[in-house]
Amino acid sequence: MSSSVITRIGSLVTNDPALGEGPLGLLEDAAVVIDGEHVAWVGPSAAAPAADESYDAAGRAVIPGFVDSHSHLVFAGDRTREFNARMSGQAYTAGGIRTTVAATRAASDDELHANVARYVAEALRQGTTTIETKSGYGLTPHDEARALRIAGDHADEVTFLGAHIVAPEYADDPAGYVDLVTGPMLDACAPYARWVDVFCERGAFDGDQARAILTAGAARGLVPRVHANQLGHGPGVQLAVELDAASADHCTHLTDADVDALAGGRTVATLLPGAEFSTRAVYPDARRLIDAGATVALSTDCNPGSSFTSSMPFCVAVAVRDMRMTPDEAVRAATLGGALALRRDDVGRLAPGARADVVVLDAPSHVHLAYRPGVPLVSAVWRRGVRESI
Ligand code: NIG
Ligand code: FE
Repeated sequence: MSSSVITRIGSLVTNDPALGEGPLGLLEDAAVVIDGEHVAWVGPSAAAPAADESYDAAGRAVIPGFVDSHSHLVFAGDRTREFNARMSGQAYTAGGIRTTVAATRAASDDELHANVARYVAEALRQGTTTIETKSGYGLTPHDEARALRIAGDHADEVTFLGAHIVAPEYADDPAGYVDLVTGPMLDACAPYARWVDVFCERGAFDGDQARAILTAGAARGLVPRVHANQLGHGPGVQLAVELDAASADHCTHLTDADVDALAGGRTVATLLPGAEFSTRAVYPDARRLIDAGATVALSTDCNPGSSFTSSMPFCVAVAVRDMRMTPDEAVRAATLGGALALRRDDVGRLAPGARADVVVLDAPSHVHLAYRPGVPLVSAVWRRGVRESI
């Protein structure tokens, strides 16, 4: 096992308040020592122990790798036409998902593998070292299980989203589709996923249907997470908290009771600014959630319909500009927040024992992620202790 030391870090985000200043645990003129897959030491650059290899950060900032806890990467086809129509004034609806379902079912395994690999690599170049991805564009037991197997070859975390929309074959029998999802589809999919998710929204699944699906998944050992309150008010957030879901995702339209529920439980509110950006919708109010005491994560929601970006730096910049987050809060939400949304304590922070997922920014501070939107600032990435070529 080889070791390396990153020296002369101008500003280091550890996300461990015991190691440095404030909630980000900020250290200046710091060093990080990597031993094998893990962080072995963090401290002042001048006191750094020797290692087999050395990298001079020359005053650049270092952050933990981004943890993108919500993406939909197993798909084929593209929805440029739908995006164009939206930018000419049409509204986003769940119905567009059907277009991607048809293209995904028709694609070969090789094509789907190549697509997922491409988007995971794209995300890595932008500093994402942990990624979750979902099924949801197959909607048959065979196609959903295939999507999950493919996802598992590329992503760190895999979520069963057979309840993305009612499959076209069941358009007149939504109850029959819920039976399929909670029965044969779950049987085929449970071995390949850690999480179960439902799109709880008008046009997709209502509260009772979502409860049945999440409960059936939980009975098979899958942990719930919920697409909740994206397009309007609804029961998704309350259901997520009631079922102790790891995360309620989107959280765009919240009542005071929804905010209180999130603040009172351990369900993370995962905000997905790419979706509001790409659907020209109103942004969620992160400030309201943070001030109430809720834990907030930021993720891309990368998918061909509502948010075709794999860029966590983009999400950080939008969250700061339009969701009333400070740069510190947004960077924390995109790293530690994502880890909490995936119930992981090995990623999202740079402290001894954590996974050595390290991102060097070509900037003096993490604040530049919001201050310099759209600029490719990621200049070096280590994932599980290995320097990646990006
Ligand atoms: O998270 N909201 C549901 N699912 C995706 C969109 C999927 C699609 O439009 O293809 C989302 O935004
Ligand atoms: Fe999503």
